[in-house]
Amino acid sequence: MIQFPFFLISIFSLLSLLNAASLIPDTCSEIVHSDRNVEYDFCVKVLVSDPGSATATTVAQLGSISFQLGLSETKTISSKIGTLLQDPKLDPSDKDALKSCSGIYLEAQKDLEEGLKAFKSGDYSKANKMANGAVIVPTACEFMFAQSPLSKENDYFFQLAAISLDFTDLLSKITISPTQYLDLKLVFICSSFFYKMEYNYMSQIFIILFVALPLAKARNLVTDTCMKISKADPENIKYGFCVKTFGSDPRSTKASSVDELVDISFNLTSSKSKSITSTINQVLLKDPKFDPFARSALETCSDLYSDGLDDLQTGLEALKGGDFPTAMSRVSAALDNGPDCEDTFKEKEGEVSPLTKENDEYFHLAVISLSLTVLLKK
Ligand SMILES: *[C@@H]1O[C@H](CO)[C@@H](O)[C@H](O)[C@H]1NC(C)=O
Repeated sequence: MIQFPFFLISIFSLLSLLNAASLIPDTCSEIVHSDRNVEYDFCVKVLVSDPGSATATTVAQLGSISFQLGLSETKTISSKIGTLLQDPKLDPSDKDALKSCSGIYLEAQKDLEEGLKAFKSGDYSKANKMANGAVIVPTACEFMFAQSPLSKENDYFFQLAAISLDFTDLLSKITISPTQYLDLKLVFICSSFFYKMEYNYMSQIFIILFVALPLAKARNLVTDTCMKISKADPENIKYGFCVKTFGSDPRSTKASSVDELVDISFNLTSSKSKSITSTINQVLLKDPKFDPFARSALETCSDLYSDGLDDLQTGLEALKGGDFPTAMSRVSAALDNGPDCEDTFKEKEGEVSPLTKENDEYFHLAVISLSLTVLLKK
């Protein structure tokens, strides 16, 4: 007798668990598919971590949860900044940077509060704008430091905010240009931040004008450049991916000109090309599970990527020598290797490319190199 209701309860909880169990992975797959900034495992982990997700039955409910998670993270980060600021041994420039971060995280908090409200009322276009405002904050904060004490937090928040942004995209097919909004938002954040500083710390205004601004400018080389190229090619270059790409290379923080970013970008693209070639030759071609068709496709890809290295090298040299036509044609040729490799697998029906992710990553890195080439040409 007693066992019966227990049995029913477990069936119910099992059913609701199963439902959530497929809703979250499905939604995360969709998000990851359209946004390279978000990692699938992160998306699933973070949504599952919220108790509310167990009973969520719609994408909109998960979206609200993601806004709430972002919101609570802004508070966690603000309190961490408060703790860091109490350190008496704090370097003065880090202190300024922390204060700046604190100011912009406050803006992010307001954005997400408003965004959550808009999201719940179904105004996805407004929620999208708000999430867009929040998503740039961690990058802006990261670039305030030479050695950021908030890297982990910034990265975590970046992904969370990106997920919220993706939910708004998922629920409405919004076509306003996000970068357009980013510009306005940056100006707003900076002006309100400097206004507050001036008001609260009269004596610091000179420091801001003569020290912080030029410093911020150097740190913003990456964000500015990424803004420019993502605006020029919004289809292929995501601002966040671009900043993250440069952020992955410590040389970016020291870069003082676009030329140096060009070197870094070509280096990253070449390294990817090299790593794909070695994955093919050292791992995939040694795997007996591939049939003769797949093996020959893999060999084609290996050749493409080896030749691509030469194209990138020659392209970079041509660019430095001012020979733009050669630079453009070599870099474009190198860029095509990603899609070309992918296509070799499509020649046989039902064949699945084992390199889809790699080809896609390479392509996006190479697009950045090509866009920078175009940028320098102008
Ligand atoms: C990229 O730069 C590093 C450091 O300068 C260098 O060791 C490496 O060989 C470069 N990679 C390529 C593929 O050019």
